[in-house]
Amino acid sequence: MTAEPLEIHLTEPELARQLRRDVRLGLTARPKWLPPRWFYDARGSALFEEITRLPEYYPTRTERAILAAHAAEIARLTDAKTLIELGSGSSDKTRLLLDALYAGGGLGTFVPLDVSTSALARSTELIATDYPGVRVRGIVGDFSRHLDRLPAGGGRLVAFLGGTIGNLVPAERADFLRDMRAALAVGDWLLLGADLVKDPGLLVPAYDDAAGVTAEFNRNVLHVINRELGGDFDPAGFDHVAVWDAERRWIEMRLRARRAMRVRIRDLDLTVAFTDGEQVRTEISAKFRPADLPAELTAAGFVPRAGWTDPDRLFSVTLAQVGADQPARLAVREGE
Ligand code: SAH
Ligand code: TRP
Repeated sequence: MTAEPLEIHLTEPELARQLRRDVRLGLTARPKWLPPRWFYDARGSALFEEITRLPEYYPTRTERAILAAHAAEIARLTDAKTLIELGSGSSDKTRLLLDALYAGGGLGTFVPLDVSTSALARSTELIATDYPGVRVRGIVGDFSRHLDRLPAGGGRLVAFLGGTIGNLVPAERADFLRDMRAALAVGDWLLLGADLVKDPGLLVPAYDDAAGVTAEFNRNVLHVINRELGGDFDPAGFDHVAVWDAERRWIEMRLRARRAMRVRIRDLDLTVAFTDGEQVRTEISAKFRPADLPAELTAAGFVPRAGWTDPDRLFSVTLAQVGADQPARLAVREGE
């Protein structure tokens, strides 16, 4: 079978407008920053896939092992008819969930959503071929803006894997969970893969590998700005920096100027000055304590139903269900 044509909720002109706005905002702020979703053009998505295979990058293989051990149980508990995946990338680990749901015979539709058209085009074709009879509806969209565009219908399981929820800052994460709850119906399910707090000696190399792939991935945002906005960044003029912030429990990725320089961004008619050693924040990757996500899920109106980790407690997978509406809210509605 072939996948259905991609459903586009982020058009090229809209993306271009947002990139211009983000780059202008971020590079004129102090300290400077750039939002992470611009890493993921075709090259960025390919570099991320390379990261997932690095010896230092434990999250992917650990999450895969947890899913392998518990996919059958997840399928039994949720009995999902529709599997939705946010930030789906290659959807490679997701096959463990697809296999388990497919074996149960109930899986009708798979809906991967990602900002990366190239990753989606590839993953939807591969999955449509390997799961005959399953509708594959890829959505080009932003999981921070387009949750209200997800297909309706009963028996939905939303998977958000890879620890990507940790790439949202805490306020964005709370908004995300609230919007996710609003987009789902009572009884629908959410499966969250999240990385756990651990020894920085293990954490930091996962974001600063010896082969320099993560550094190249981080610098890719500069290539994107050069290509899309006529920038003249010298990507080699920036060092990759990954620091563990123990207080906020997140890894922070930065790009540090190796010398003072001025960068011209033609399409914004903007010249940006960097001092020697000046840093641009490009991404955070938050790490969780075991009780953190269940508490945040509960606050957002979900009921945590199950949670799993690996023997070394590196990574976690949490399954939650949308709970019945709060009595207080029902009372207000009844009084209307
Ligand atoms: N789920 C995969 C990929 C994780 S990498 C895994 O576990 O390996 C993060 C993915 O999220 C990338 O595919 C990237 O393109 C996508 N992404 C990043 N920001 C996004 C956003 N705001 N909305 C939708 N997708 C996003
Ligand atoms: N979701 C991934 C994570 O937080 C994304 C990621 C991995 C990443 N390595 C990176 C983002 C390096 C920026 C730079 O683990």
